Amino acid sequence: MPAIADEETVPTFAELGLPPVLVSALARQGIEAPFPIQAAAIPDVMSGRDVLGRGKTGSGKTLAFGLPLLARLSGRKAAPKRPLALILVPTRELAQQVQTNLEPLGRGLGLRFKTVIGQTSMFKQIDALRRGVEVLVATPGRLKDLMRQGACDLSDVEIAVLDEADHMADMGFLPDVTDILDAAQPGGQRLLFSATLDKDVDVLVRRYLNEPVTHAIGPVDESVDTMDHHLLLVAPKEKGAITAEIANREGRTILFARTKHGVDRLAKQLTQAGVRAAGLHGGKSQGLRTRTLAEFREGSISVLVATDVAARGIHVDDVTLVMHVDPPADHKDYMHRAGRTARAGERGTVVTLVLPHQVRSTSAMTRRAGINAPRTRVTTGDAELVKLTGARQPSGIPIEEPLIPERPARREGGRGRPGARRGRGPRTFDREGGNRRRDGEGGRGEHRSFSSGERRGGPRTGGGSHGNRRGASFGGDRRTARTS
Ligand SMILES: Nc1ncnc2c1ncn2[C@@H]1O[C@H](COP(=O)(O)OP(=O)(O)OP(=O)(O)O)[C@@H](O)[C@H]1O
Ligand SMILES: [Mg+2]
Repeated sequence: MPAIADEETVPTFAELGLPPVLVSALARQGIEAPFPIQAAAIPDVMSGRDVLGRGKTGSGKTLAFGLPLLARLSGRKAAPKRPLALILVPTRELAQQVQTNLEPLGRGLGLRFKTVIGQTSMFKQIDALRRGVEVLVATPGRLKDLMRQGACDLSDVEIAVLDEADHMADMGFLPDVTDILDAAQPGGQRLLFSATLDKDVDVLVRRYLNEPVTHAIGPVDESVDTMDHHLLLVAPKEKGAITAEIANREGRTILFARTKHGVDRLAKQLTQAGVRAAGLHGGKSQGLRTRTLAEFREGSISVLVATDVAARGIHVDDVTLVMHVDPPADHKDYMHRAGRTARAGERGTVVTLVLPHQVRSTSAMTRRAGINAPRTRVTTGDAELVKLTGARQPSGIPIEEPLIPERPARREGGRGRPGARRGRGPRTFDREGGNRRRDGEGGRGEHRSFSSGERRGGPRTGGGSHGNRRGASFGGDRRTARTS
């Protein structure tokens, strides 16, 4: 049984072929031994193979593609405007996070990074590219803008990574993604990673990958084993109060709501009730989005209320509870939202508030996600609610100070007035995190409103088995029908 053999003999990072300077940089961060997806994928990426990698949320996929990418480029120099590697991700927050994780490791190898995302200084991005960038981390929209302007030429890109690949393959992303991959070096190495790598990526696999190796850690529908799931049956009139009690628990908590408006309303209700909460969604300025996530990471706010823009890939230490205030669109979204807790072998709880008319659909969804989520009927102040979530009655004293102060927008590239926003909304080059929503929050309608020019608009031990199939077939995952 190869799976058992793999788990028994965990190789070291050095044995996987990573250069000593990288191994010591990892050790300085306390990262001593590879996680299963890393042990599985790194040697193949190092040897230049195309790789499809599926590992559960929080299982360390960033380093699984990032470390060998850095090692392969070690000491190389990019020509002006011509990066050597590209990591494409669906959201700006994820781009910033990937850069934050990998850049310090790449520095010791002489590699220069730049993040290319919307609503940040295009001038600085152009300038960095002109000086030379080996590793570009990007969301598709801004990258395409820079390509169009002649500020970035992808023809030297030898390694292209799609993180959250199934999401990137989603209809709204596909045209930009294929344009970008078409512009990369023909025959270059391609790496596709996600926790839910399924048949959605087939189109990309067929077109761009050459005899890929598949590394899939655990069955498609196996959930993270350090994660507890509960369906909380609530009466409609109590939903608000129960949400506030759970949000007021001790510890870092993420609440997911379906719409931008829902996020704003909920964040406001919570601060009015005395809970240090702030909202994150694609309708806010990038500065505010970045500061909100930073404040949450630093702990000055304890509750992040978000749309699915925060569902994919985002890592914040010690998030101990995720609550679906509104049910996710499908089981994949459930898994990604839930995966913001119980990361890297830590424990975490995921609760879903279920109204009477949502019981059937929610149970069907959790079955599809392959999780066992007991149902519990709860009321406000309920002992069972306290036991499951640590719920506490909020103080009821409104928080008056602005938790995340809005700063005036800075001038970008000489366009626009400070503080003023042009067009119908912030320029969102990336998309709300993968939603096929019914009200336009990140739904396909919103995706399509972007014109192609100026757009507006693990587990340490528990990897389970790891299959190493040659070939590229993903048919195993079952999907719910999409709403649009
Ligand atoms: N070998 C390792 N040893 C210890 N910690 C690690 C190791 N590899 C990764 N980590 C940590 O695990 C956490 C999760 O990693 P990462 O964000 O790459 O997960 P992921 O698989 O990409 O999850 P998602 O599917 O949600 O994107 C990070 O904090 C990372 O630093
Ligand atoms: Mg990730």
